[in-house]
Amino acid sequence: MEVTWDTCYLCHFMGTKSGRELKPVAGCLGCHELPKKSFMIGNITYNHKAFVTQKGVSCQNCHLNVIQGSGEATQDRCYTCHNQPEKLAKFSDTAFIHENHVTKHNVACFHCHKEMKHGFTEANHQTPHESLPLDCSKCHLEMHQVQAAFYAGKAGGRKEAMPSPMYLANVDCVGCHLHSQTGRTHSEKTYKATEAGCIKCHGEKYRGIVADSKQLIAETLQELEENLALAQTALAIKEKESGKAPLKEARKNLAQAAEKMTLIKEAHAVHNIYLAAGLLRESDQEIARAGKKLDASLQDLSERPLISGGFCATLCHSKVGVKVPPVTVRHQGKSMPHLEHTQLLSCTACHDFGRHKSVKFKGDAVCRTCHAP
Ligand code: HEC
Ligand code: HEC
Ligand code: HEC
Ligand code: HEC
Ligand code: HEC
Ligand code: HEC
Ligand code: HEC
Ligand code: HEC
Ligand code: HEC
Ligand code: HEC
Repeated sequence: MEVTWDTCYLCHFMGTKSGRELKPVAGCLGCHELPKKSFMIGNITYNHKAFVTQKGVSCQNCHLNVIQGSGEATQDRCYTCHNQPEKLAKFSDTAFIHENHVTKHNVACFHCHKEMKHGFTEANHQTPHESLPLDCSKCHLEMHQVQAAFYAGKAGGRKEAMPSPMYLANVDCVGCHLHSQTGRTHSEKTYKATEAGCIKCHGEKYRGIVADSKQLIAETLQELEENLALAQTALAIKEKESGKAPLKEARKNLAQAAEKMTLIKEAHAVHNIYLAAGLLRESDQEIARAGKKLDASLQDLSERPLISGGFCATLCHSKVGVKVPPVTVRHQGKSMPHLEHTQLLSCTACHDFGRHKSVKFKGDAVCRTCHAP
């Protein structure tokens, strides 16, 4: 087997994380002696011993970028030698793959693995540093993941994703985030989103929708928060009265509601109003359930437009000129004067609102409250 330094790095560095979490197999000092000589950095003398031995500073604090490349083995590499499906199916059995290539057939590591290098790069070998590689992800982890997941509809612990129609149409974040704004120092820039983006793509009739939605969301959240606080107080009192009575279910309901509400705020509901409305409805239901178990008297919010689903009509459809509901619909083979019924009852008496453009009929029980069966 050919052994090059690169081979050593594959075993010692691959999968041991990178950046500040880097912990190579056998540690840095498994291979290196602590450099004894002093370095002149500008006009100061630097010696490893003072920092590493005496102060216990770890190597990664100064040598964060000594590994280049990830070294992973990807399936496309296999195709350079085979394409039989039964062979490719063995891909995930790493021990078998190594045994049958490295041990038995002397296949070199880098036929399968991507390159991995170790040591100073051109950029960080200058003494002193001329450029500091400013890798944002060394400090800002999971930045904006919450907005991205919300936009894609994969947030809030739902079984079925409820993506924004624009996510489905491939509208990128920058499609809306158009407005350049100075950051915290004059040279920094950020691109914020305003309704200008909506209007650019959808036309003038969308003017005002962002502001209206933000206001409606804020109001609804505020009312839910008041109910949540009332229920939490009721819970605290109940628990005090009955010793440490475990009102587990009620506590769980409230915790879940609180979590969903925080998510809506952090993700900015405008990224997916349909998902936000769904989560607001679920929060309301959780709080109401807890309220019942606790005999707390809460405000009934179920008819609030974002919670009931009525927001479609009030927030957008009237403005944009969408004509729902239909004047008549066919129901069980008969024509039903739909519009007349919407003047008698709210939409949610008969429908559940799910994702956009999905209006499910709840069932005939409601008809029997007025019509003989
Ligand atoms: C197939 C994987 C693999 C390869 C290739 C490999 N190593 Fe290792 N090496 C290991 C493992 C595993 C250990 C054991 C770490 C432990 O026990 O803590 C180790 C330990 C070491 C140690 C530390 C021994 C000690 O007593 O702490 C040194 C030094 C070392 N390797 C150097 C090298 C060098 C140099 C190369 C390349 C010529 C190399 N290794 C290639 C897997 C590998
Ligand atoms: C498997 C053994 C091994 C381990 C583990 C290892 N190194 Fe190295 N390191 C080497 C080898 C081999 C070289 C290259 C020497 C050469 O090219 O002359 C090197 C080069 C370097 C260099 C560049 C030196 C120069 O003069 O250009 C630095 C800095 C360095 N290593 C730091 C580290 C740090 C920090 C760690 C721990 C995160 C670490 N190494 C872990 C084997 C290792
Ligand atoms: C406080 C910062 C700091 C820490 C901590 C540190 N180093 Fe260094 N290291 C330096 C500087 C500065 C140099 C010289 C840089 C240059 O040549 O560009 C250097 C150079 C090196 C070199 C190259 C030596 C040579 O002869 O060129 C190696 C290898 C190295 N360090 C390994 C380590 C290891 C291993 C550790 C942890 C045990 C460590 N360093 C901890 C700052 C640090
Ligand atoms: C550099 C060429 C090369 C690459 C790249 C390569 N293989 Fe192979 N593979 C071979 C050789 C040589 C053999 C042994 C002769 C044979 O069975 O065809 C083999 C054998 C196999 C076998 C049969 C083992 C047995 O004896 O039952 C499987 C399975 C296999 N390879 C899967 C893979 C997979 C999966 C990949 C990608 C991770 C891969 N190979 C990448 C060259 C390669
Ligand atoms: C025929 C393809 C192939 C060859 C040749 C090969 N590997 Fe791998 N190796 C893989 C695959 C596939 C994986 C699993 C996928 C991944 O982790 O990226 C893997 C995983 C690894 C891992 C991760 C730890 C583990 O066991 O999951 C190390 C370390 C590794 N290989 C080292 C080596 C070294 C060192 C050599 C050369 C001596 C080598 N490999 C040669 C295909 C190969
Ligand atoms: C060494 C760690 C570190 C690195 C590397 C880093 N940042 Fe920061 N950044 C911070 C800290 C700490 C703050 C202040 C956070 C606070 O005030 O809550 C911050 C704040 C910010 C803010 C303002 C956030 C806010 O909420 O006001 C932005 C934007 C930002 N960084 C972007 C970047 C970008 C882009 C990069 C890469 C070019 C980067 N950062 C690299 C640590 C880092
Ligand atoms: C459909 C248009 C649209 C898309 C697509 C979009 N955003 Fe936004 N984004 C907005 C609006 C509108 C705001 C709210 C600004 C406000 O609250 O006044 C906003 C606010 C934000 C904020 C909060 C910062 C602030 O200005 O208060 C972040 C962070 C953010 N978006 C990130 C993203 C990311 C990441 C993506 C892609 C995954 C994305 N956005 C996609 C329209 C959009
Ligand atoms: C880059 C262009 C673009 C931007 C910017 C944009 N949209 Fe969209 N929007 C689309 C596309 C494409 C669709 C899906 C196809 C369609 O429905 O016409 C869509 C669908 C929609 C829908 C579903 C309507 C329907 O008929 O199915 C709504 C509601 C919507 N967008 C609101 C907004 C709001 C509010 C903003 C600003 C915060 C905005 N859009 C910004 C392109 C955009
Ligand atoms: C009295 C009950 C009732 C009320 C109130 C009601 N609907 Fe319906 N709606 C129906 C029935 C029944 C259907 C036929 C669907 C079926 O049979 O599956 C229907 C169908 C629909 C359809 C689908 C039409 C189609 O072509 O597929 C839409 C959209 C709709 N309703 C929207 C609304 C809206 C918006 C409101 C409130 C403004 C509303 N409905 C109020 C009973 C009602
Ligand atoms: C709030 C009471 C109410 C509910 C609930 C209600 N309706 Fe009606 N419905 C009416 C009234 C009032 C009329 C108008 C009677 C008239 O003009 O003769 C009517 C008329 C109708 C008609 C046309 C007249 C007829 O009897 O042929 C149909 C069909 C009908 N409803 C079907 C339904 C269906 C299906 C549902 C359940 C999805 C439903 N209604 C729920 C009050 C209700």
